[in-house]
Amino acid sequence: RPPALTDPFGRDVTYLRVSVTDRCDFRCVYCMAEDMTFLPKKDVLSLEELDRLCSAFVAKGVRKLRLTGGEPLVRKNIMSLFRSLSRHLDSGALDEVTVTTNGSQLARFADELYGAGVRRINVSIDTLDTDKFKTITRWGDLDKVMAGLEAARRAGLQVKINAVALKGVNEHEIPAMIEWAHGEGHDLTLIETMPLGDIEGDRTDQYLPLSQVRASLMDRFTLTDIPYKTGGPARYMKVEETGGRLGLITPMTHNFCESCNRVRITCTGMLYMCLGQDDSADLRAALRASEGDELLNRAIDEAIGRKPKGHDFIIDRDRKAPAVSRHMSVTGG
Ligand code: GTP
Ligand code: 5AD
Ligand code: SF4
Repeated sequence: RPPALTDPFGRDVTYLRVSVTDRCDFRCVYCMAEDMTFLPKKDVLSLEELDRLCSAFVAKGVRKLRLTGGEPLVRKNIMSLFRSLSRHLDSGALDEVTVTTNGSQLARFADELYGAGVRRINVSIDTLDTDKFKTITRWGDLDKVMAGLEAARRAGLQVKINAVALKGVNEHEIPAMIEWAHGEGHDLTLIETMPLGDIEGDRTDQYLPLSQVRASLMDRFTLTDIPYKTGGPARYMKVEETGGRLGLITPMTHNFCESCNRVRITCTGMLYMCLGQDDSADLRAALRASEGDELLNRAIDEAIGRKPKGHDFIIDRDRKAPAVSRHMSVTGG
Protein backbone atom coordinates (compact mmCIF):
# COMPACT_ATOMS: atom_id res chain seq x y z
CA ARG A 1 0.00 0.00 0.00
CA PRO A 2 1.20 3.53 -0.75
CA PRO A 3 1.92 5.84 2.19
CA ALA A 4 -1.14 7.76 3.36
CA LEU A 5 -1.71 11.41 2.52
CA THR A 6 -1.92 12.78 6.04
CA ASP A 7 -2.94 16.35 6.86
CA PRO A 8 -1.61 18.52 9.71
CA PHE A 9 -4.40 17.30 12.00
CA GLY A 10 -3.51 13.65 11.49
CA ARG A 11 -6.42 12.91 9.17
CA ASP A 12 -5.72 10.58 6.25
CA VAL A 13 -7.08 11.74 2.91
CA THR A 14 -8.50 8.59 1.35
CA TYR A 15 -11.50 10.00 -0.53
CA LEU A 16 -11.22 12.18 -3.63
CA ARG A 17 -14.25 13.90 -5.13
CA VAL A 18 -13.74 15.10 -8.67
CA SER A 19 -16.02 17.46 -10.53
CA VAL A 20 -15.73 16.48 -14.18
CA THR A 21 -17.81 19.34 -15.60
CA ASP A 22 -19.35 22.60 -14.44
CA ARG A 23 -22.31 21.99 -16.74
CA CYS A 24 -25.64 20.54 -15.78
CA ASP A 25 -28.96 19.92 -17.45
CA PHE A 26 -30.73 21.15 -14.28
CA ARG A 27 -30.43 24.45 -12.39
CA CYS A 28 -31.17 23.54 -8.79
CA VAL A 29 -31.95 26.72 -6.90
CA TYR A 30 -29.43 26.04 -4.12
CA CYS A 31 -26.68 24.99 -6.49
CA MET A 32 -26.51 27.30 -9.50
CA ALA A 33 -27.63 30.69 -10.67
CA GLU A 34 -30.32 30.48 -13.34
CA ASP A 35 -28.26 32.10 -16.09
CA MET A 36 -24.93 30.38 -15.69
CA THR A 37 -21.94 31.24 -17.83
CA PHE A 38 -20.06 28.00 -18.29
CA LEU A 39 -16.30 27.72 -18.54
CA PRO A 40 -14.47 27.78 -21.86
CA LYS A 41 -13.34 24.32 -22.90
CA LYS A 42 -9.62 25.05 -22.71
CA ASP A 43 -9.92 25.74 -19.00
CA VAL A 44 -11.54 22.39 -18.29
CA LEU A 45 -9.29 19.38 -17.78
CA SER A 46 -9.35 16.84 -20.58
CA LEU A 47 -10.42 13.29 -19.74
CA GLU A 48 -6.75 12.26 -20.00
CA GLU A 49 -5.75 14.99 -17.55
CA LEU A 50 -8.52 13.93 -15.16
CA ASP A 51 -7.29 10.37 -15.32
CA ARG A 52 -3.70 11.45 -14.66
CA LEU A 53 -4.78 13.57 -11.73
CA CYS A 54 -6.95 10.84 -10.16
CA SER A 55 -4.17 8.32 -10.64
CA ALA A 56 -1.66 10.59 -8.88
CA PHE A 57 -3.99 10.65 -5.86
CA VAL A 58 -4.49 6.89 -6.01
CA ALA A 59 -0.71 6.45 -5.96
CA LYS A 60 -0.73 8.58 -2.80
CA GLY A 61 -3.21 6.40 -0.97
CA VAL A 62 -6.68 7.56 -2.04
CA ARG A 63 -9.03 4.52 -1.85
CA LYS A 64 -12.31 6.02 -2.99
CA LEU A 65 -13.09 8.18 -6.02
CA ARG A 66 -16.37 9.93 -6.65
CA LEU A 67 -17.09 11.76 -9.89
CA THR A 68 -19.43 14.72 -9.53
CA GLY A 69 -20.18 17.96 -11.37
CA GLY A 70 -22.24 19.84 -12.35
CA GLU A 71 -23.82 16.74 -13.73
CA PRO A 72 -21.04 14.22 -14.44
CA LEU A 73 -23.09 12.22 -16.93
CA VAL A 74 -23.51 15.19 -19.30
CA ARG A 75 -19.73 15.31 -19.89
CA LYS A 76 -19.01 14.07 -23.39
CA ASN A 77 -17.48 10.58 -23.46
CA ILE A 78 -17.41 10.38 -19.65
CA MET A 79 -17.75 6.59 -19.74
CA SER A 80 -14.23 6.33 -21.13
CA LEU A 81 -12.95 7.95 -17.91
CA PHE A 82 -14.91 5.48 -15.76
CA ARG A 83 -13.55 2.61 -17.84
CA SER A 84 -9.96 3.74 -17.60
CA LEU A 85 -10.20 4.42 -13.84
CA SER A 86 -11.49 0.88 -13.31
CA ARG A 87 -7.93 -0.40 -13.71
CA HIS A 88 -7.32 0.87 -10.17
CA LEU A 89 -10.23 -1.26 -8.96
CA ASP A 90 -8.83 -4.28 -10.76
CA SER A 91 -5.40 -3.76 -9.19
CA GLY A 92 -6.94 -3.40 -5.72
CA ALA A 93 -5.57 0.14 -5.30
CA LEU A 94 -9.10 1.56 -5.13
CA ASP A 95 -12.01 0.23 -3.08
CA GLU A 96 -14.64 2.18 -4.95
CA VAL A 97 -15.31 4.38 -7.97
CA THR A 98 -18.67 6.01 -7.73
CA VAL A 99 -20.76 8.93 -8.92
CA THR A 100 -23.19 11.55 -7.63
CA THR A 101 -25.75 12.33 -10.30
CA ASN A 102 -29.08 14.05 -10.81
CA GLY A 103 -30.25 10.88 -12.53
CA SER A 104 -31.44 12.52 -15.74
CA GLN A 105 -29.08 10.48 -17.95
CA LEU A 106 -29.05 7.30 -15.88
CA ALA A 107 -31.35 5.32 -18.13
CA ARG A 108 -28.67 5.65 -20.79
CA PHE A 109 -25.64 4.94 -18.66
CA ALA A 110 -26.60 2.55 -15.85
CA ASP A 111 -25.37 -0.59 -17.59
CA GLU A 112 -22.13 1.00 -18.71
CA LEU A 113 -21.47 2.27 -15.20
CA TYR A 114 -21.87 -1.22 -13.83
CA GLY A 115 -19.64 -2.53 -16.61
CA ALA A 116 -16.92 -0.08 -15.55
CA GLY A 117 -16.94 -1.42 -12.00
CA VAL A 118 -19.29 1.08 -10.38
CA ARG A 119 -21.47 -0.65 -7.78
CA ARG A 120 -23.06 2.20 -5.85
CA ILE A 121 -24.40 5.55 -7.00
CA ASN A 122 -25.92 8.58 -5.29
CA VAL A 123 -28.89 10.26 -6.93
CA SER A 124 -30.19 13.67 -5.84
CA ILE A 125 -33.97 13.87 -5.46
CA ASP A 126 -35.40 16.48 -3.11
CA THR A 127 -39.09 15.85 -3.69
CA LEU A 128 -41.46 13.28 -5.19
CA ASP A 129 -43.86 15.99 -6.35
CA THR A 130 -43.39 16.60 -10.07
CA ASP A 131 -44.23 20.31 -9.92
CA LYS A 132 -42.08 20.93 -6.87
CA PHE A 133 -39.28 19.01 -8.52
CA LYS A 134 -39.53 21.35 -11.47
CA THR A 135 -39.44 24.37 -9.16
CA ILE A 136 -36.35 23.19 -7.29
CA THR A 137 -34.40 22.04 -10.34
CA ARG A 138 -35.88 24.80 -12.54
CA TRP A 139 -35.67 22.47 -15.58
CA GLY A 140 -35.74 18.91 -14.28
CA ASP A 141 -38.11 16.14 -15.30
CA LEU A 142 -38.83 13.77 -12.42
CA ASP A 143 -40.19 11.00 -14.67
CA LYS A 144 -36.88 10.81 -16.47
CA VAL A 145 -35.05 10.48 -13.16
CA MET A 146 -37.44 7.72 -12.08
CA ALA A 147 -36.77 5.86 -15.33
CA GLY A 148 -33.07 6.24 -14.55
CA LEU A 149 -33.55 4.69 -11.12
CA GLU A 150 -35.33 1.75 -12.68
CA ALA A 151 -32.43 1.26 -15.09
CA ALA A 152 -29.99 1.45 -12.17
CA ARG A 153 -31.89 -1.27 -10.37
CA ARG A 154 -31.88 -3.51 -13.43
CA ALA A 155 -28.16 -2.92 -13.86
CA GLY A 156 -27.51 -4.03 -10.28
CA LEU A 157 -26.38 -0.66 -8.93
CA GLN A 158 -26.98 0.09 -5.25
CA VAL A 159 -28.66 3.49 -4.95
CA LYS A 160 -28.54 6.16 -2.27
CA ILE A 161 -31.02 9.02 -2.65
CA ASN A 162 -29.78 12.44 -1.48
CA ALA A 163 -32.33 15.02 -0.42
CA VAL A 164 -31.45 18.50 0.78
CA ALA A 165 -33.90 19.30 3.60
CA LEU A 166 -35.62 22.59 2.80
CA LYS A 167 -37.98 24.36 5.17
CA GLY A 168 -41.36 25.05 3.62
CA VAL A 169 -40.40 23.09 0.51
CA ASN A 170 -39.97 19.38 1.23
CA GLU A 171 -40.09 19.46 5.02
CA HIS A 172 -43.48 17.73 5.30
CA GLU A 173 -42.64 15.24 2.61
CA ILE A 174 -39.72 13.64 4.40
CA PRO A 175 -41.69 10.74 5.96
CA ALA A 176 -43.18 9.95 2.54
CA MET A 177 -39.72 10.05 0.99
CA ILE A 178 -38.44 7.61 3.60
CA GLU A 179 -41.30 5.20 2.85
CA TRP A 180 -40.77 5.53 -0.87
CA ALA A 181 -36.96 5.18 -0.91
CA HIS A 182 -36.95 2.24 1.48
CA GLY A 183 -39.83 0.63 -0.39
CA GLU A 184 -37.66 0.79 -3.51
CA GLY A 185 -34.72 -0.69 -1.64
CA HIS A 186 -32.69 2.55 -1.66
CA ASP A 187 -30.88 4.25 1.20
CA LEU A 188 -31.96 7.84 1.84
CA THR A 189 -29.71 10.61 3.09
CA LEU A 190 -30.93 14.02 4.21
CA ILE A 191 -28.56 16.98 3.88
CA GLU A 192 -28.57 20.35 5.62
CA THR A 193 -28.43 23.16 3.12
CA MET A 194 -25.10 24.97 3.20
CA PRO A 195 -24.63 28.69 2.60
CA LEU A 196 -22.62 28.59 -0.61
CA GLY A 197 -22.89 30.87 -3.58
CA ASP A 198 -25.62 33.45 -3.59
CA ILE A 199 -27.20 33.18 -0.14
CA GLU A 200 -29.51 36.16 -0.14
CA GLY A 201 -33.07 35.20 0.67
CA ASP A 202 -33.99 31.59 0.26
CA ARG A 203 -30.86 29.80 1.40
CA THR A 204 -31.18 31.22 4.91
CA ASP A 205 -34.97 31.10 5.02
CA GLN A 206 -35.04 27.49 3.88
CA TYR A 207 -32.40 26.19 6.25
CA LEU A 208 -33.82 23.31 8.25
CA PRO A 209 -31.73 21.82 11.06
CA LEU A 210 -31.78 18.04 10.86
CA SER A 211 -31.78 17.78 14.65
CA GLN A 212 -35.33 19.14 14.39
CA VAL A 213 -36.24 16.80 11.54
CA ARG A 214 -34.96 13.82 13.47
CA ALA A 215 -36.98 14.74 16.53
CA SER A 216 -40.20 15.02 14.56
CA LEU A 217 -39.52 11.79 12.68
CA MET A 218 -39.35 10.03 16.03
CA ASP A 219 -43.09 10.59 16.51
CA ARG A 220 -43.64 8.34 13.59
CA PHE A 221 -40.65 6.04 13.23
CA THR A 222 -38.36 4.07 15.48
CA LEU A 223 -34.83 5.16 14.64
CA THR A 224 -31.84 3.12 15.74
CA ASP A 225 -28.27 4.34 15.25
CA ILE A 226 -26.24 1.85 13.26
CA PRO A 227 -22.51 1.69 12.56
CA TYR A 228 -22.95 1.48 8.74
CA LYS A 229 -20.11 3.42 7.08
CA THR A 230 -19.52 4.42 3.48
CA GLY A 231 -16.55 6.74 3.97
CA GLY A 232 -18.81 9.78 3.50
CA PRO A 233 -20.05 12.18 6.20
CA ALA A 234 -23.50 10.64 6.78
CA ARG A 235 -24.40 9.06 10.12
CA TYR A 236 -26.87 6.26 9.58
CA MET A 237 -29.92 4.99 11.41
CA LYS A 238 -32.13 2.04 10.74
CA VAL A 239 -35.80 2.85 10.40
CA GLU A 240 -37.41 -0.13 12.13
CA GLU A 241 -40.79 0.29 10.39
CA THR A 242 -39.32 0.17 6.87
CA GLY A 243 -36.17 -1.84 7.51
CA GLY A 244 -34.24 0.75 5.46
CA ARG A 245 -31.30 3.02 6.19
CA LEU A 246 -31.63 6.77 6.79
CA GLY A 247 -28.48 8.91 6.76
CA LEU A 248 -28.09 12.43 8.11
CA ILE A 249 -25.49 14.85 6.78
CA THR A 250 -25.30 17.67 9.27
CA PRO A 251 -22.53 20.13 8.43
CA MET A 252 -24.38 22.87 10.31
CA THR A 253 -25.75 21.23 13.48
CA HIS A 254 -23.25 18.42 14.01
CA ASN A 255 -20.02 19.20 12.30
CA PHE A 256 -18.06 16.19 11.11
CA CYS A 257 -14.85 17.97 10.13
CA GLU A 258 -12.85 16.18 12.82
CA SER A 259 -13.07 12.94 10.87
CA CYS A 260 -12.83 14.51 7.41
CA ASN A 261 -11.11 12.17 4.97
CA ARG A 262 -11.72 14.00 1.70
CA VAL A 263 -10.60 16.72 -0.68
CA ARG A 264 -12.16 17.98 -3.90
CA ILE A 265 -11.02 18.85 -7.38
CA THR A 266 -12.92 21.15 -9.71
CA CYS A 267 -13.17 20.48 -13.43
CA THR A 268 -10.44 23.06 -13.94
CA GLY A 269 -8.08 21.19 -11.65
CA MET A 270 -8.32 23.40 -8.58
CA LEU A 271 -7.90 21.38 -5.42
CA TYR A 272 -10.14 22.47 -2.55
CA MET A 273 -9.04 21.18 0.81
CA CYS A 274 -12.48 21.91 2.29
CA LEU A 275 -15.98 22.40 0.88
CA GLY A 276 -16.50 25.28 3.29
CA GLN A 277 -13.34 27.30 2.66
CA ASP A 278 -11.96 29.31 -0.24
CA ASP A 279 -8.35 28.13 -0.16
CA SER A 280 -7.39 26.12 -3.23
CA ALA A 281 -4.32 24.89 -5.10
CA ASP A 282 -3.88 25.06 -8.85
CA LEU A 283 -3.14 21.48 -9.88
CA ARG A 284 -3.86 22.23 -13.54
CA ALA A 285 -0.78 24.42 -13.72
CA ALA A 286 1.27 21.61 -12.20
CA LEU A 287 -0.27 19.06 -14.58
CA ARG A 288 0.32 21.14 -17.68
CA ALA A 289 3.79 22.33 -16.72
CA SER A 290 5.46 18.99 -17.39
CA GLU A 291 4.76 15.45 -18.48
CA GLY A 292 6.28 13.92 -15.38
CA ASP A 293 4.35 13.95 -12.12
CA GLU A 294 7.03 15.44 -9.91
CA LEU A 295 5.61 18.98 -9.84
CA LEU A 296 2.11 17.62 -9.48
CA ASN A 297 3.05 15.43 -6.53
CA ARG A 298 4.77 18.33 -4.85
CA ALA A 299 1.73 20.58 -5.39
CA ILE A 300 -0.57 17.93 -3.89
CA ASP A 301 1.61 17.43 -0.82
CA GLU A 302 1.89 21.17 -0.24
CA ALA A 303 -1.86 21.62 -0.52
CA ILE A 304 -2.69 18.75 1.86
CA GLY A 305 -0.32 20.42 4.30
CA ARG A 306 -2.74 23.37 4.32
CA LYS A 307 -5.96 21.39 4.84
CA PRO A 308 -7.92 23.44 7.40
CA LYS A 309 -9.38 22.08 10.60
CA GLY A 310 -12.96 22.74 9.55
CA HIS A 311 -15.41 24.77 7.51
CA ASP A 312 -16.49 28.39 7.97
CA PHE A 313 -20.23 27.98 7.42
CA ILE A 314 -22.67 29.78 9.65
CA ILE A 315 -26.33 30.49 9.10
CA ASP A 316 -26.89 34.11 10.01
CA ARG A 317 -29.88 36.14 8.91
CA ASP A 318 -27.97 39.41 9.16
CA ARG A 319 -25.00 38.27 7.20
CA LYS A 320 -24.75 39.76 3.75
CA ALA A 321 -22.04 37.56 2.26
CA PRO A 322 -21.74 33.78 2.28
CA ALA A 323 -18.72 32.15 3.92
CA VAL A 324 -17.95 30.68 0.54
CA SER A 325 -18.85 32.59 -2.58
CA ARG A 326 -18.55 29.80 -5.14
CA HIS A 327 -21.65 27.85 -6.01
CA MET A 328 -21.96 24.18 -5.07
CA SER A 329 -21.77 23.19 -8.74
CA VAL A 330 -18.10 24.24 -8.80
CA THR A 331 -16.99 21.57 -6.32
CA GLY A 332 -19.92 19.18 -6.58
CA GLY A 333 -20.74 18.96 -2.89
P1 GTP B 1 -21.24 8.08 0.26
O1 GTP B 1 -20.08 7.49 -0.42
O2 GTP B 1 -22.52 7.42 -0.12
O3 GTP B 1 -21.06 8.23 1.73
O4 GTP B 1 -21.39 9.53 -0.36
P2 GTP B 1 -21.07 10.97 0.14
O5 GTP B 1 -22.05 11.40 1.18
O6 GTP B 1 -19.64 11.11 0.46
O7 GTP B 1 -21.32 11.75 -1.22
P3 GTP B 1 -22.53 12.57 -1.77
O8 GTP B 1 -22.11 13.07 -3.11
O9 GTP B 1 -23.78 11.83 -1.66
O10 GTP B 1 -22.49 13.78 -0.78
C1 GTP B 1 -23.56 14.19 -0.10
C2 GTP B 1 -23.44 15.61 0.34
O11 GTP B 1 -22.86 15.67 1.60
C3 GTP B 1 -22.54 16.50 -0.48
O12 GTP B 1 -23.13 16.92 -1.65
C4 GTP B 1 -22.37 17.65 0.45
O13 GTP B 1 -23.54 18.41 0.43
C5 GTP B 1 -22.25 16.92 1.78
N1 GTP B 1 -20.84 16.71 2.09
C6 GTP B 1 -20.07 15.68 1.68
N2 GTP B 1 -18.82 15.82 2.16
C7 GTP B 1 -18.81 16.95 2.87
C8 GTP B 1 -17.82 17.65 3.59
O14 GTP B 1 -16.65 17.25 3.66
N3 GTP B 1 -18.17 18.81 4.20
C9 GTP B 1 -19.43 19.28 4.12
N4 GTP B 1 -19.70 20.41 4.75
N5 GTP B 1 -20.40 18.66 3.45
C10 GTP B 1 -20.10 17.53 2.83
N1 5AD C 1 -26.26 22.61 0.52
C1 5AD C 1 -26.32 21.28 0.71
N2 5AD C 1 -26.31 20.39 -0.27
C2 5AD C 1 -26.27 20.83 -1.52
N3 5AD C 1 -26.25 20.18 -2.70
C3 5AD C 1 -26.17 21.11 -3.68
N4 5AD C 1 -26.14 22.35 -3.17
C4 5AD C 1 -26.22 22.22 -1.82
C5 5AD C 1 -26.22 23.13 -0.72
N5 5AD C 1 -26.14 24.45 -0.90
C6 5AD C 1 -26.32 18.73 -2.83
C7 5AD C 1 -27.15 18.24 -3.98
C8 5AD C 1 -26.54 16.90 -4.29
C9 5AD C 1 -25.15 17.01 -3.78
C10 5AD C 1 -24.11 16.88 -4.82
O1 5AD C 1 -25.04 18.27 -3.16
O2 5AD C 1 -28.49 18.07 -3.69
O3 5AD C 1 -27.20 15.86 -3.65
FE1 SF4 D 1 -27.24 20.18 -11.33
FE2 SF4 D 1 -26.79 18.72 -9.12
FE3 SF4 D 1 -26.41 21.34 -9.08
FE4 SF4 D 1 -28.87 20.40 -9.29
S1 SF4 D 1 -27.48 20.07 -7.51
S2 SF4 D 1 -27.98 22.11 -10.53
S3 SF4 D 1 -28.60 18.60 -10.47
S4 SF4 D 1 -25.24 19.93 -10.27
